[in-house]
Amino acid sequence: MSDIDPVIEIQNLHKSFAGFVAVDDFSLSVSKGEIVALLGRTGAGKSTVLNLVMGTIAPDRGSIRVAGLDPFAQFRQLKGRIAVSFQTDRLLPWRTAIENAELGLLILGLPKAEARARARQWLARVNLRGAEDKYVHELSGGMRQRVSLARALAVDPDIVFLDESFSQLDHATAKKLRTDFHSIAKEFQKTCLFVTHRIEDAIEIADRAIVLSPGAHIALTERITPALREDPDAVRECHSRVARVMGSDEDGEEETVSNRTLHAD
Ligand SMILES: Nc1ncnc2c1ncn2[C@@H]1O[C@H](COP(=O)(O)OP(=O)(O)OP(=O)(O)O)[C@@H](O)[C@H]1O
Ligand SMILES: [Mg+2]
Repeated sequence: MSDIDPVIEIQNLHKSFAGFVAVDDFSLSVSKGEIVALLGRTGAGKSTVLNLVMGTIAPDRGSIRVAGLDPFAQFRQLKGRIAVSFQTDRLLPWRTAIENAELGLLILGLPKAEARARARQWLARVNLRGAEDKYVHELSGGMRQRVSLARALAVDPDIVFLDESFSQLDHATAKKLRTDFHSIAKEFQKTCLFVTHRIEDAIEIADRAIVLSPGAHIALTERITPALREDPDAVRECHSRVARVMGSDEDGEEETVSNRTLHAD
């Protein structure tokens, strides 16, 4: 596979659950180093598309290639090349931050000392220096999500899948983590497909934001350039175009989240 071939190529994907059409003719191509966000309201089919691309479920029809492989049929060959982080951090509570971060490397068979050293570097890279030996219950939600990202990135995957990884965090914590993730993904040329219902996630991280309506129909595609991100008016316009298509009250969401945080305090 050459550098210009798409890393993720999805053509005419269909998936139903007991007669209910969750994904109806979805196609998408993601090139190397590109970050694509799938946005949409609940039930639009975002996670189903991601699960199909990750190879955890099989499509009814259509084709998917991830790094040239069929992610469902050739799941094992993709081991170590893809990494995943979810809304909940899925850390093991009886292990410390560093023991969680090194887990993927140990599974891949790296010698213990090397796995430990690499996990330490990644914890530092996600700004968790000093928290290596803390247990999961001693970490804040944002810190846990950082450990989860360090664990995902430590295996040096070509491709990163995220499903609502920033959604449970308060506004300020999510914003900082988004910025850190974006710079890491760009620095290491990771190809990334991520799912979110928060417009801010997409605008701050993605090169391309795709809004899905139910059935995973593509309702809108927005290209997000570094120049757009620097221009508050352009960001606002992009935000309202997306919000209009999503047809929700997204504009007030961040405020709701921070209010909730304030009340919780
Ligand atoms: N395993 C399943 N069995 C039956 N129906 C399913 C299954 N998985 C998803 N669905 C249905 O498919 C549709 C799309 O679900 P999906 O989880 O992909 O949505 P989503 O866009 O990720 O939503 P959310 O923002 O709530 O996470 C929904 O109507 C859901 O009920
Ligand atoms: Mg989902």
